[in-house]
Amino acid sequence: MDFHRGRRLRSSLALREMVREHEIRPQDLIMPYFVVETDDESFMKEISSMPGQYQLSLRQLEKKVGEAVTLGLRSCILFGIPATKDETGSQAYADTGIVQQAIRLLKERWPQLIVVADTCLCEYTSHGHCGLVKNGEVLNDPTLNLLARAAVAQARAGADMVAPSDMMDGRVTAIRAALDEAGFVDTPIMSYAVKYASAFYGPFREAAESTPQFGDRKTYQMDPPNGREAMREAAADLAEGADILMVKPGLPYLDVIRQVRDAFDAPVAAYQVSGEYAMIKAAALNGWIDERAVVMESLVAFKRAGADLILTYFTEDVLKELK
Ligand code: PBG
Ligand code: ZN
Repeated sequence: MDFHRGRRLRSSLALREMVREHEIRPQDLIMPYFVVETDDESFMKEISSMPGQYQLSLRQLEKKVGEAVTLGLRSCILFGIPATKDETGSQAYADTGIVQQAIRLLKERWPQLIVVADTCLCEYTSHGHCGLVKNGEVLNDPTLNLLARAAVAQARAGADMVAPSDMMDGRVTAIRAALDEAGFVDTPIMSYAVKYASAFYGPFREAAESTPQFGDRKTYQMDPPNGREAMREAAADLAEGADILMVKPGLPYLDVIRQVRDAFDAPVAAYQVSGEYAMIKAAALNGWIDERAVVMESLVAFKRAGADLILTYFTEDVLKELK
């Protein structure tokens, strides 16, 4: 009999682990947190579409991160919900902005923790768009300076990395130049290089209170049917100075992660976004799937597709699992 006996190497856990191709490591994971500008130190509000995830005051953020660090947390990414919003999103680049405050606090407490700042305007603008708006249009070039100012404010507060998520053209060039000029030549840029206009961001917009007040983000974020275009976006960001390329959302775009991995040398990050989290949670809470198993399987899929880093709301759960 001459046929392939694939089962030989699957016959015990020890053998399966010996030939296992991919694994999730604590240093691969980045946990997103939502920090709210409020005087109420005890403020902690569960996000209804993301059970187990919260909007947190500075004090509550500190507590949560403290617990996560004990579990082995290496990195987090911060999103801010300011007390006031305006047309130009000024709290995104104010030195006293809520994310800047949070960065200072976390870096003071945990110097080793890699604190990433999401660089965008949508949480800070009254209209909820990621750029300046004029006559109902989201302007590209006039937005760049504001994004650059936000990145510098974040770096000045102590951010270890900035992550522009706006999808304006030329933002990596603008941010790199501004960081360098301000003396932050060593602050890496993790670019949301390939970011689709996705319905999977729905729960995030509840969490970050960043739903556009008119229209949608389709004139700046990518069209979901396009795969080849992702290569152009990634190549452009790399040429402009991005250090890490992110693909977002995750699971529905594994093909894109693989293409970016194969085409470029830079580290690749995948973002398992809010809608992906919500779907797994909802099914798990109904008792329809085994949450722990599904989470690990979905994360290892990113690794198989070629991602190095994973941004996931399941980070704390996975750290527990790995302990
Ligand atoms: C802000 C931003 C968004 C996400 C990350 N940064 C929302 C959006 O573009 O509307 C989505 C994250 C998630 O859904 O988990 N530009
Ligand atoms: Zn945005």
